[in-house]
Amino acid sequence: TDSRISPSLIRQRKGGTPLVCLTAYTYPVARLLDPHVDLLLVGDSVAMVLHGHQTTLGASIEMMVAHGQAVMRGSARACVVVDMPAGTYEDSAAQAVGSARRIVDETGCQAVKLEGGVDMAGRIAAIVANGIPVMGHIGLLPQSVEKEGGYKIKGRTDENVAALVADALAVEKAGAFSVVIEGTIEAAAADITRRIAIPTIGIGASPDCDGQILVIDDMVGLTVDRVPKFVKEYAHLRSVIAHAAEQYASEVRNRTFPGPAHVFSGSNTNGGDDA
Ligand code: KIV
Ligand code: NA
Repeated sequence: TDSRISPSLIRQRKGGTPLVCLTAYTYPVARLLDPHVDLLLVGDSVAMVLHGHQTTLGASIEMMVAHGQAVMRGSARACVVVDMPAGTYEDSAAQAVGSARRIVDETGCQAVKLEGGVDMAGRIAAIVANGIPVMGHIGLLPQSVEKEGGYKIKGRTDENVAALVADALAVEKAGAFSVVIEGTIEAAAADITRRIAIPTIGIGASPDCDGQILVIDDMVGLTVDRVPKFVKEYAHLRSVIAHAAEQYASEVRNRTFPGPAHVFSGSNTNGGDDA
Protein backbone atom coordinates (compact mmCIF):
# COMPACT_ATOMS: atom_id res chain seq x y z
CA THR A 1 0.00 0.00 0.00
CA ASP A 2 0.95 3.68 -0.17
CA SER A 3 2.12 3.92 3.44
CA ARG A 4 4.95 1.44 2.87
CA ILE A 5 8.58 2.44 2.40
CA SER A 6 9.01 2.39 -1.38
CA PRO A 7 11.99 1.08 -3.34
CA SER A 8 12.70 4.64 -4.51
CA LEU A 9 12.84 5.77 -0.87
CA ILE A 10 15.31 2.94 -0.16
CA ARG A 11 17.33 4.13 -3.17
CA GLN A 12 17.41 7.68 -1.74
CA ARG A 13 18.91 6.43 1.53
CA LYS A 14 22.33 5.86 -0.13
CA GLY A 15 25.06 7.02 2.25
CA GLY A 16 22.62 7.84 5.07
CA THR A 17 21.56 6.03 8.22
CA PRO A 18 22.20 2.33 7.52
CA LEU A 19 19.22 0.44 6.08
CA VAL A 20 17.91 -2.24 8.43
CA CYS A 21 16.87 -5.38 6.54
CA LEU A 22 15.90 -8.90 7.61
CA THR A 23 14.37 -11.88 5.91
CA ALA A 24 10.83 -12.89 6.91
CA TYR A 25 8.76 -15.84 5.76
CA THR A 26 5.68 -15.92 7.97
CA TYR A 27 2.82 -13.71 9.18
CA PRO A 28 3.74 -13.63 12.90
CA VAL A 29 7.42 -12.90 12.31
CA ALA A 30 6.55 -10.16 9.79
CA ARG A 31 4.24 -8.62 12.43
CA LEU A 32 7.07 -8.64 15.00
CA LEU A 33 9.76 -7.26 12.65
CA ASP A 34 7.78 -4.65 10.72
CA PRO A 35 8.09 -1.83 13.31
CA HIS A 36 11.88 -2.21 13.45
CA VAL A 37 13.06 -2.63 9.87
CA ASP A 38 13.16 -0.69 6.61
CA LEU A 39 12.94 -3.77 4.37
CA LEU A 40 11.72 -7.35 4.68
CA LEU A 41 13.09 -9.88 2.20
CA VAL A 42 11.11 -13.03 1.52
CA GLY A 43 14.32 -14.85 0.67
CA ASP A 44 14.52 -18.12 -1.22
CA SER A 45 16.47 -19.18 1.88
CA VAL A 46 12.94 -20.11 3.03
CA ALA A 47 13.46 -23.40 1.16
CA MET A 48 16.29 -24.30 3.54
CA VAL A 49 15.26 -22.48 6.71
CA LEU A 50 11.57 -23.48 6.89
CA HIS A 51 11.25 -26.37 4.44
CA GLY A 52 14.47 -28.26 5.15
CA HIS A 53 15.84 -28.36 1.60
CA GLN A 54 19.64 -28.76 1.27
CA THR A 55 20.02 -25.60 -0.86
CA THR A 56 17.93 -22.65 -2.10
CA LEU A 57 17.43 -24.58 -5.35
CA GLY A 58 14.47 -26.21 -3.56
CA ALA A 59 12.45 -22.97 -3.80
CA SER A 60 9.61 -22.59 -6.32
CA ILE A 61 7.45 -19.67 -7.46
CA GLU A 62 4.50 -21.20 -5.55
CA MET A 63 6.58 -21.35 -2.36
CA MET A 64 7.77 -17.75 -2.76
CA VAL A 65 4.24 -16.52 -3.47
CA ALA A 66 2.74 -18.30 -0.42
CA HIS A 67 5.36 -16.84 1.93
CA GLY A 68 5.23 -13.45 0.18
CA GLN A 69 1.48 -13.29 0.81
CA ALA A 70 1.97 -14.17 4.49
CA VAL A 71 4.64 -11.47 4.95
CA MET A 72 2.49 -8.86 3.18
CA ARG A 73 -0.43 -9.71 5.52
CA GLY A 74 1.84 -9.32 8.54
CA SER A 75 3.52 -6.04 7.57
CA ALA A 76 2.28 -2.50 6.98
CA ARG A 77 5.34 -0.30 6.78
CA ALA A 78 8.36 -2.21 5.50
CA CYS A 79 9.37 -2.40 1.86
CA VAL A 80 8.72 -6.07 1.00
CA VAL A 81 11.01 -7.73 -1.57
CA VAL A 82 10.44 -11.31 -2.78
CA ASP A 83 13.27 -13.47 -4.19
CA MET A 84 12.94 -14.91 -7.68
CA PRO A 85 13.76 -18.61 -7.28
CA ALA A 86 16.37 -20.41 -9.38
CA GLY A 87 15.09 -21.48 -12.78
CA THR A 88 12.50 -18.71 -13.14
CA TYR A 89 14.54 -15.90 -14.76
CA GLU A 90 17.82 -17.14 -16.25
CA ASP A 91 16.58 -18.39 -19.65
CA SER A 92 15.41 -15.10 -21.18
CA ALA A 93 14.23 -11.57 -20.47
CA ALA A 94 10.68 -12.68 -21.32
CA GLN A 95 10.84 -15.49 -18.74
CA ALA A 96 12.25 -13.10 -16.13
CA VAL A 97 9.53 -10.48 -16.75
CA GLY A 98 6.79 -13.13 -16.64
CA SER A 99 8.01 -14.57 -13.34
CA ALA A 100 8.51 -11.13 -11.75
CA ARG A 101 5.03 -10.05 -12.87
CA ARG A 102 3.47 -13.18 -11.38
CA ILE A 103 5.24 -12.70 -8.03
CA VAL A 104 4.20 -9.03 -7.80
CA ASP A 105 0.61 -9.65 -8.99
CA GLU A 106 0.03 -12.57 -6.60
CA THR A 107 1.68 -11.03 -3.50
CA GLY A 108 1.47 -7.24 -3.89
CA CYS A 109 5.15 -6.98 -2.90
CA GLN A 110 7.12 -3.81 -3.73
CA ALA A 111 10.03 -5.45 -5.58
CA VAL A 112 11.76 -8.66 -6.57
CA LYS A 113 15.39 -9.76 -6.14
CA LEU A 114 17.49 -11.97 -8.40
CA GLU A 115 21.08 -13.25 -8.29
CA GLY A 116 23.79 -12.24 -10.77
CA GLY A 117 25.74 -9.23 -12.07
CA VAL A 118 27.03 -8.73 -15.60
CA ASP A 119 25.34 -11.94 -16.81
CA MET A 120 21.90 -11.00 -15.42
CA ALA A 121 21.93 -7.23 -16.12
CA GLY A 122 19.68 -7.72 -19.15
CA ARG A 123 17.10 -9.55 -16.99
CA ILE A 124 17.16 -6.74 -14.42
CA ALA A 125 16.75 -4.05 -17.11
CA ALA A 126 13.81 -5.91 -18.70
CA ILE A 127 11.96 -6.29 -15.38
CA VAL A 128 12.59 -2.63 -14.46
CA ALA A 129 11.38 -1.56 -17.93
CA ASN A 130 8.11 -3.33 -17.10
CA GLY A 131 7.66 -1.18 -14.01
CA ILE A 132 8.80 -3.67 -11.36
CA PRO A 133 11.63 -2.51 -9.06
CA VAL A 134 14.54 -4.96 -8.76
CA MET A 135 17.09 -5.53 -6.02
CA GLY A 136 20.36 -7.07 -7.24
CA HIS A 137 22.46 -9.71 -5.48
CA ILE A 138 26.19 -10.15 -6.15
CA GLY A 139 29.16 -11.89 -4.51
CA LEU A 140 28.47 -15.32 -3.06
CA LEU A 141 25.36 -16.53 -4.91
CA PRO A 142 23.59 -19.42 -3.13
CA GLN A 143 21.65 -20.39 -6.28
CA SER A 144 25.04 -21.16 -7.91
CA VAL A 145 26.24 -23.44 -5.10
CA GLU A 146 26.17 -26.59 -7.27
CA LYS A 147 28.00 -24.88 -10.16
CA GLU A 148 30.59 -23.42 -7.72
CA GLY A 149 31.00 -26.59 -5.67
CA GLY A 150 30.28 -24.88 -2.33
CA TYR A 151 29.79 -21.52 -0.63
CA LYS A 152 33.00 -19.64 -1.52
CA ILE A 153 33.89 -16.16 -0.24
CA LYS A 154 34.48 -13.73 -3.15
CA GLY A 155 37.11 -11.02 -3.64
CA ARG A 156 40.23 -12.89 -2.50
CA THR A 157 42.16 -12.01 -5.68
CA ASP A 158 42.51 -8.73 -7.63
CA GLU A 159 40.83 -10.34 -10.66
CA ASN A 160 37.93 -11.46 -8.51
CA VAL A 161 37.55 -7.98 -6.99
CA ALA A 162 37.49 -6.53 -10.52
CA ALA A 163 34.73 -9.00 -11.46
CA LEU A 164 32.72 -8.00 -8.37
CA VAL A 165 33.06 -4.29 -9.24
CA ALA A 166 31.97 -5.03 -12.82
CA ASP A 167 28.93 -6.92 -11.46
CA ALA A 168 28.03 -4.03 -9.14
CA LEU A 169 28.31 -1.46 -11.93
CA ALA A 170 26.23 -3.65 -14.27
CA VAL A 171 23.46 -4.08 -11.70
CA GLU A 172 23.44 -0.32 -11.03
CA LYS A 173 23.36 0.52 -14.75
CA ALA A 174 20.53 -1.98 -15.33
CA GLY A 175 18.37 0.08 -12.98
CA ALA A 176 18.32 -1.89 -9.72
CA PHE A 177 17.28 0.24 -6.71
CA SER A 178 19.76 -1.49 -4.38
CA VAL A 179 22.06 -4.51 -4.32
CA VAL A 180 22.82 -7.23 -1.79
CA ILE A 181 26.53 -7.99 -1.47
CA GLU A 182 26.98 -11.43 0.08
CA GLY A 183 30.09 -13.26 1.29
CA THR A 184 32.96 -11.06 0.14
CA ILE A 185 36.26 -9.83 1.52
CA GLU A 186 35.38 -6.77 3.61
CA ALA A 187 37.47 -4.28 1.63
CA ALA A 188 35.81 -5.31 -1.65
CA ALA A 189 32.31 -4.58 -0.32
CA ALA A 190 33.47 -1.25 1.10
CA ASP A 191 35.10 -0.36 -2.24
CA ILE A 192 31.95 -1.24 -4.21
CA THR A 193 29.83 0.81 -1.78
CA ARG A 194 31.96 3.87 -2.60
CA ARG A 195 31.80 3.25 -6.35
CA ILE A 196 28.05 2.88 -6.96
CA ALA A 197 25.19 5.31 -6.36
CA ILE A 198 22.62 2.71 -5.19
CA PRO A 199 22.58 1.35 -1.62
CA THR A 200 24.60 -1.79 -0.92
CA ILE A 201 23.05 -4.21 1.57
CA GLY A 202 25.71 -6.37 3.17
CA ILE A 203 25.60 -9.93 4.50
CA GLY A 204 29.04 -11.28 5.32
CA ALA A 205 30.33 -8.13 3.62
CA SER A 206 31.26 -4.84 5.38
CA PRO A 207 30.03 -2.42 8.05
CA ASP A 208 30.63 0.27 5.40
CA CYS A 209 27.72 -1.06 3.32
CA ASP A 210 24.65 1.21 3.17
CA GLY A 211 22.61 -1.41 5.04
CA GLN A 212 22.76 -4.90 6.52
CA ILE A 213 20.63 -8.03 6.16
CA LEU A 214 20.54 -11.36 8.00
CA VAL A 215 18.35 -14.44 7.79
CA ILE A 216 15.82 -14.06 10.60
CA ASP A 217 16.12 -17.64 11.91
CA ASP A 218 19.92 -17.25 12.08
CA MET A 219 19.62 -13.87 13.86
CA VAL A 220 17.33 -15.22 16.60
CA GLY A 221 19.22 -18.48 17.12
CA LEU A 222 16.55 -20.76 15.67
CA THR A 223 18.61 -22.28 12.85
CA VAL A 224 19.25 -25.94 13.64
CA ASP A 225 21.79 -26.59 10.88
CA ARG A 226 25.19 -24.92 10.39
CA VAL A 227 25.22 -21.13 10.92
CA PRO A 228 27.68 -19.09 8.79
CA LYS A 229 30.54 -17.15 10.45
CA PHE A 230 28.99 -13.80 9.48
CA VAL A 231 25.86 -14.42 11.58
CA LYS A 232 25.40 -12.83 15.00
CA GLU A 233 22.78 -14.56 17.18
CA TYR A 234 20.84 -11.83 19.04
CA ALA A 235 18.64 -14.44 20.78
CA HIS A 236 18.71 -18.19 21.39
CA LEU A 237 15.27 -19.44 20.43
CA ARG A 238 16.47 -23.04 19.92
CA SER A 239 16.86 -23.46 23.68
CA VAL A 240 13.65 -21.50 24.44
CA ILE A 241 11.64 -23.90 22.26
CA ALA A 242 13.46 -27.01 23.45
CA HIS A 243 12.89 -26.07 27.11
CA ALA A 244 9.20 -25.32 26.48
CA ALA A 245 8.75 -28.70 24.76
CA GLU A 246 10.58 -30.49 27.59
CA GLN A 247 8.40 -28.85 30.26
CA TYR A 248 5.18 -29.49 28.29
CA ALA A 249 6.10 -33.15 27.79
CA SER A 250 6.73 -33.54 31.51
CA GLU A 251 3.43 -31.84 32.49
CA VAL A 252 1.37 -33.90 30.03
CA ARG A 253 2.95 -37.13 31.30
CA ASN A 254 2.35 -36.27 34.96
CA ARG A 255 -1.13 -34.75 34.27
CA THR A 256 -0.32 -31.23 35.53
CA PHE A 257 -1.34 -29.92 32.11
CA PRO A 258 -4.10 -29.08 31.42
CA GLY A 259 -4.75 -27.38 34.78
CA PRO A 260 -8.00 -25.85 36.08
CA ALA A 261 -7.39 -22.63 34.07
CA HIS A 262 -7.25 -24.54 30.78
CA VAL A 263 -10.48 -26.55 30.98
CA PHE A 264 -14.18 -25.65 30.76
CA SER A 265 -15.92 -26.38 34.07
CA GLY A 266 -19.54 -26.07 32.94
CA SER A 267 -20.32 -23.41 35.60
CA ASN A 268 -18.79 -20.59 33.56
CA THR A 269 -21.18 -17.57 33.65
CA ASN A 270 -19.09 -14.85 32.06
CA GLY A 271 -18.79 -16.15 28.56
CA GLY A 272 -20.29 -18.08 25.74
CA ASP A 273 -18.81 -20.97 23.87
CA ASP A 274 -15.65 -19.18 22.74
CA ALA A 275 -12.31 -20.77 23.66
O1 KIV B 1 17.45 -15.76 0.51
C1 KIV B 1 17.98 -14.99 1.32
O2 KIV B 1 17.77 -15.06 2.55
C2 KIV B 1 18.86 -13.93 0.79
C3 KIV B 1 19.58 -13.06 1.79
C4 KIV B 1 20.60 -13.84 2.51
C5 KIV B 1 20.15 -11.85 1.15
O3 KIV B 1 18.98 -13.81 -0.39
NA1 NA C 1 18.12 -15.46 -1.64
